[in-house]
Amino acid sequence: MTGKEKEKEEEMTIPQIEEIEEEKEEELMAEPETAPVEGSEQDIEGLPGIGPKTAEKLKEAGYGALMNIATASASEIAAVADVGEGTASKAIMAARGALRMGYETGLQALENRKKILKLTTGSKELDKLLGGGLETCSITECYGAFGSAKTQIAHQLAVNAQLPIDEGGLNGAVLYIDTEHTFRPERIMEMCSAKGLDHKKILANIHVGRAYNSDHQILLADKAKDIMKEKNIKLVIVDSLMSHFRADYIGRGSLAGRQQKLNQHLHVLQKLADTYNALIYLTNQVMSKPDMLFGDPTAAVGGHVLHHAATFRIYLRKSKGDTRICKLVDSPNLPDGETVIRITPDGVIDR
Ligand SMILES: Nc1ncnc2c1ncn2[C@@H]1O[C@H](COP(=O)(O)OP(=O)(O)OP(=O)(O)O)[C@@H](O)[C@H]1O
Ligand SMILES: [Mg+2]
Repeated sequence: MTGKEKEKEEEMTIPQIEEIEEEKEEELMAEPETAPVEGSEQDIEGLPGIGPKTAEKLKEAGYGALMNIATASASEIAAVADVGEGTASKAIMAARGALRMGYETGLQALENRKKILKLTTGSKELDKLLGGGLETCSITECYGAFGSAKTQIAHQLAVNAQLPIDEGGLNGAVLYIDTEHTFRPERIMEMCSAKGLDHKKILANIHVGRAYNSDHQILLADKAKDIMKEKNIKLVIVDSLMSHFRADYIGRGSLAGRQQKLNQHLHVLQKLADTYNALIYLTNQVMSKPDMLFGDPTAAVGGHVLHHAATFRIYLRKSKGDTRICKLVDSPNLPDGETVIRITPDGVIDR
């Protein structure tokens, strides 16, 4: 209990406290016997205060899954469903209860990690560096200078994600938020023919949204939840994350506003990853740090907000010919390391 909550409780009379205890009990009662782990399938109509009409409104606004409710704020739900904040927070608590969100033991965490899928990059060496491939339920940030192959890898992942799970794929479709207008279906075709895949099938499962500015980019990510389940999206690409944000917020004065928007945007993306067991691949530019005397004078843009959101961070550097050096930076459970890949007409391969 936080200090504030304690203070509040001390101010309360005993009947008020009993009322809250009762409410808590009701919330517990609302927990279904067989709570699904992912929970996305379960109907939201069973939640306290959510009748068929309210459920309909929520579904229309893209809050059709329990996880959407459980991770929303009371004011968000209140506004969307046209209910009071009290009712909204009761529904949120019940959804959290049903999904068993709260503390878990290390063993349960291990069990939950089992649902995580790994996506091959096309290079066995790079996969090895990443502990078996890129992971679902998390955000990967790939940063590097122009021509370092961030977009090439995005294309390769868009193909690989559609492979069966036992071939290193995610057996799912792809959502591609293209902010620099560099998505090229021809490149996908080239990669497909190298793998003997039917490019028509693969292209039909890549849903491309061209973002025209940072607000549009945010909107495209917000709208994603409407189609994630329907289209079985397992990979969400944002190429690139920061270009519009950098163009739209110029000057130091607007930095705080930009970071706030960026933070919200990243939260939406992380929520997609968690709710739909999906992988988020973000590309990012670098800026030079002229004041740095030693080491590599480049750093990813986006600041701490982005730094903390990404689970995997890969730094790409151009090397001789078609080779690129990939460096794994700040992984929570893997040692930092480097490997070399090649970008060929067939796609991403080992050196
Ligand atoms: N069809 C192809 N076959 C082989 N290599 C290719 C092909 N298309 C592009 N490349 C390589 O990929 C490079 C471009 O990489 P990419 O566009 O992924 O860079 P990027 O990191 O996204 O850069 P930017 O910051 O400008 O977006 C080209 O310079 C070329 O070397
Ligand atoms: Mg690019």
